[in-house]
Amino acid sequence: MIYADYNATTPLGEGARTWIAQAFELWGNPSSSHRQGRKAMELLNKSREAIAELVGVTPTDIVFTSGGSEANHLALMGKALEVGKGFRILTSQVEHSSVKDLLPLIQKLGGEVDYISVNGQGQLSLSELEAKLKLFNPHLVSLMTANNETGVVFPIPDIAELCQKNSALFHTDAVQGLGKLDSAFYRSAHLVSISAHKIYGPKGVGALIIKKGTSLVATHYGGAQEIKRRGGTENILGIAGFAGAAQELMTSDSQTISPFIRDYFESTLQKNLEGIWVQGLKEPRIPNTSNIRFQGIPSEVLLGALDLEGIAISAGSACSSGSISPSHVLLNMGLNENEAKECVRFSWGKTSTLQAVEEVAQKVIAHVSRIRARNSTKVISN
Ligand SMILES: Cc1ncc(COP(=O)(O)O)c(C=O)c1O
Repeated sequence: MIYADYNATTPLGEGARTWIAQAFELWGNPSSSHRQGRKAMELLNKSREAIAELVGVTPTDIVFTSGGSEANHLALMGKALEVGKGFRILTSQVEHSSVKDLLPLIQKLGGEVDYISVNGQGQLSLSELEAKLKLFNPHLVSLMTANNETGVVFPIPDIAELCQKNSALFHTDAVQGLGKLDSAFYRSAHLVSISAHKIYGPKGVGALIIKKGTSLVATHYGGAQEIKRRGGTENILGIAGFAGAAQELMTSDSQTISPFIRDYFESTLQKNLEGIWVQGLKEPRIPNTSNIRFQGIPSEVLLGALDLEGIAISAGSACSSGSISPSHVLLNMGLNENEAKECVRFSWGKTSTLQAVEEVAQKVIAHVSRIRARNSTKVISN
């Protein structure tokens, strides 16, 4: 099997396995004051320190959550509930569904939402952001670090500076940035969402980094855990696994991935096929992601053909209630419904050798050529 869907999730790495195994014996409740509880608390503290070190923040800034989705929820709802009616949030049209799908609820609670547009490359304009900051005067700006579908990276340090200048709080969903970009790139935000399972840690655990001095109200109640910012007994096994993955990243040669594999893959396809377009090609992208439109090939057809070959990739569209709906990210980049349904995502990771990438490229070329010949597709040149 060749796995090329690392943006969806990653396998559990050695670092995570070792730390989780350690945690098996530490079954105490970290809030208990007896020895078992204190041992669990020690592991929790050690884990917090490892993750803080990876991101380059203070350990007490970290609030553990059930993943990136909950971290986004805490950032947005925590601020919306604190401000109450009249809360204003500025975001983009291409955010992850855990942000996008929360916005109608914020509006229902009396909040206002405004959007920054993206161009055909999936990039935003800083001058539009500056104008909107002045005109709309948002309490919170939420803009993702790197897009999960296209890999396009927003200019986070510039956005942070503009937000600072205009006294707006800045949240970034850095779930796809963690482990792929230097953490200095996104840690200038006041609030940063991260998730373990994109960096070879377990699923169901993540964190919201809340910088000192940033106030939010909790969205989970029940105990004083996480300095009252997220009630509920901590997921010690998951958190330890997250820390193990963080430590493994820090001790590996590089915390960022080389774009060599991705670039080799894209250029091989471009040399051998007409009628293909790489989304966001002209913009900075995370180094592991290629979102490619193959003219005349519905994404599910290519996905199915590759799946039969043992190759796992992802369609840039979500399957909801039995029908494939085109990706909101691609539609907002100006693709029409049919074009959006012809896009697939390849995302590479640790096990992606050049040999595996070459095999995927050759299989893609063969299937795309076969399907087009069968359907007599007239292909537009690139
Ligand atoms: C950009 C982005 N944000 C948030 C999430 C959600 O993270 P989790 O799966 O940990 O809830 C994902 C997961 O795909 C993502 O890619």
